[in-house]
Amino acid sequence: MAVKQEPASVDAQFYKPADAFFPAYSSVGLTYDDVTLATLYSEVLPRDTQLDTQLADGLNLNIPIISADMDTVTEARMAIAMALNGGLGLVHYNMPEKQQLSEVSRVKNHVHGLIQDPIKVAPEQFIGEVLEMIEKRRFAFSTFPVVDGTGRLVGLLSGHVVKPRYAKRKIAEALTPRNQVHTINQKELATNPIARADRFFTDHPGIHKLLVVDDEDRLRGLFTMSDVERITQERSAQFKPARDAHFRLVCGAAVSATRNAFGDLDRERIMEHVGALVERGVDIVAISTAHGHTKGVGETVKMLRGAFPRLPLMAGNVTSGEGVEYLTECGANAIKVGQGPGSICTTRIVAGVGIPQLTALYVCSRASRAKNVTIVADGGINKSGDIVKALTLAHAVICGGLFAGCPEAPGQMMEIGGKLYKQYRGMGSLAAMKAGSAARYGHAAGGTQKVAPEGVEALKELVPSVDLVLTQLIGGIQSGMGYLGAADLARLREKARYIRVSPAGQREAAPHDVVEVKTGS
Ligand code: XMP
Repeated sequence: MAVKQEPASVDAQFYKPADAFFPAYSSVGLTYDDVTLATLYSEVLPRDTQLDTQLADGLNLNIPIISADMDTVTEARMAIAMALNGGLGLVHYNMPEKQQLSEVSRVKNHVHGLIQDPIKVAPEQFIGEVLEMIEKRRFAFSTFPVVDGTGRLVGLLSGHVVKPRYAKRKIAEALTPRNQVHTINQKELATNPIARADRFFTDHPGIHKLLVVDDEDRLRGLFTMSDVERITQERSAQFKPARDAHFRLVCGAAVSATRNAFGDLDRERIMEHVGALVERGVDIVAISTAHGHTKGVGETVKMLRGAFPRLPLMAGNVTSGEGVEYLTECGANAIKVGQGPGSICTTRIVAGVGIPQLTALYVCSRASRAKNVTIVADGGINKSGDIVKALTLAHAVICGGLFAGCPEAPGQMMEIGGKLYKQYRGMGSLAAMKAGSAARYGHAAGGTQKVAPEGVEALKELVPSVDLVLTQLIGGIQSGMGYLGAADLARLREKARYIRVSPAGQREAAPHDVVEVKTGS
């Protein structure tokens, strides 16, 4: 007897899962605004959704958002803000290698409870020298332990006396003497140093620094009350900071497939630089170029994989399945997908290449399925809804423009017509290539006068902080997941169903037929 076929549900005729939807549009490139996601029965409250994602073995983020390796987006301050919110910052490489190393160190040494190697001063130094050091090294603090030549604690130089009026005085004359400084023997810290320090600060009102010493009274560390409080508060936040196994904030850094004067890959320089980044504790190295499916990028990835077997490597950018397979076989753990979608990109106009981002993400995500590799959606994201759509196919997103207007991004603010702005430029813009990023676009450094830029220089209106931008983005992602009944990102990828949107549908999606007096933010 023939089996009676149930008619397909009307939903299934219209709202298609990725593997039915994208192949049906194989002759047209689609991007975020071309599609919308269908809602599904849900028992999931947005606030209960989990946003953690794994970029590579041992590298987990608590939110799937990464700030772009661009010279107007990510240096230490941005990377710290991203990691404190559970994400990741990729420190750009448009700066001397030494400076990139110290940017990474600043992130890795930021608030890790016990500062194991605090900045110290010597009794014979002058206060003026301390002021110079603060200025030169851009310290945000001015209280320092004072130690003698053998590392023994002599006292504490309080920020109250580190003032220009005392510049000519010796530290020995101005310090709080050893017998008045609060210390704890490192043996007393036991297994939960933060809890021990927290108790100390509660028991000693008004004391904000606790020095750690050994049996010989040599300085072994420093707790500050503000660090301890921040860490204690973190424990109750939904999205905890992204930290490594040693409780340090995570940090990524970008490198390029640099070439020497003969046009060959500069293997020695790349290895030395990445080796130094690894020593500083970098959590992931991104080999960032405009065209990642190339011999130069592949060989760089292979070389680094051979030398640093456990170091997470991100490589790109690609928009093809073959590109994903190639970089994965070379040893990359995460693949950056995106050619030309960025808000400051002109690659598609200048070079006539690139793929609308959602189609590129679909193609790359399917090629990545058979391989143990993650997909990162890079560029073209200008609202939280785009992130939800990207995360139906990718494991994380990279955003540049969304963060470039934050005070944490590098660069000065400027006022134009009563509004505050920050500069935002493509790494393929003439100005950025002159500053060093030419290799990313396959051009020789210093030869930028004959190349066609693939990015523009622009401005972004100032926004109050990364925290605020991320709060809104996260809220949007969680709403999207609630509508799809997806409790976590794996479910979101599994459950998403798409439909194409007409131009009238796109107009309908934005506020219309009203006089807008206040935006959502
Ligand atoms: P959004 O849209 O977030 O894009 O501002 C950031 C991403 O754009 C890429 N990028 C460029 N692409 N020319 C390009 O074609 C450029 O000059 C350029 N600069 C950055 C990069 O992938 C970044 O993460």
